[in-house]
Parts: sequence; C-alpha cells; structure tokens
Amino acid sequence: MTKRSEIYKCNICGNLAEIVGEGAGTLVCCGEDMELLTEKTADSSTEKHVPVIEKINGGYRVYVGSTLHPMEEKHWIQWIELTADGISHKKYLNPGDKPETVFMVGNATTVSAREFCNLHGLWKG
Ligand SMILES: [Fe+2]
Repeated sequence: MTKRSEIYKCNICGNLAEIVGEGAGTLVCCGEDMELLTEKTADSSTEKHVPVIEKINGGYRVYVGSTLHPMEEKHWIQWIELTADGISHKKYLNPGDKPETVFMVGNATTVSAREFCNLHGLWKG
C-alpha cells in the first residue's frame, strides 16, 4: 500500500517516483521492487542535508543546508520541495546551481521542506 507523497527509488537505474495517488500494489522498476525512501531529519556529519526554511517577504527561501551542500556533477541536490498549508511546490536543480530556491507563496500557517541528494537520499526539515 502506497501513501501520497512517498518517494520510491530504483536502486538499479536510479528512477525516482513520487506517489500522487495511493494504491495497493508494489512499485517495480528494472524487474525489482523500488525502495521506499525514508525522510531523514538529522545530519551528524559535517556535510549538511537538512533543508532550512527562511521566511522572506512574500514567501520562503529554502536552502540545503546549514553548511551549503555541494552541487557537483557526481554529488548534488536534485530538487527542493516546499509544502505550504498542504500545497506542494517543487524546484528541480542542476549541478552548478546554488543548493537553494525561493518560493513566492505568500504567508502560510504550516511549512515544511524536503530535498533529494543523489548520493545521500531524502531529507526533511
Ligand atoms: Fe549529499
């Protein structure tokens, strides 16, 4: 049984899938079950992955992380997502970009952010 917003990864080809509608089946890619990624929230290494949300005029700035994450060809943040009052907003990034983005979504009562590092997985802040 899948749940909305879950992220699944194929550990063979690297495909990532997000659940936008729930179902009873299992996600399969390259002939194997895809891995359900857990949202990590604490990072004890020097490299920081937990996304930081900063309120700005008219929206939110989200950056990864408290020490900026590398954005190299082999190691980078693929996307940053902000959920503001239940509405999700996603920005896809490329190597060479800054590991941050701005979401001009006004003011929200509840906000959370997720990001995906190609080597270190899914993080939530
Ligand atoms: Fe990383």
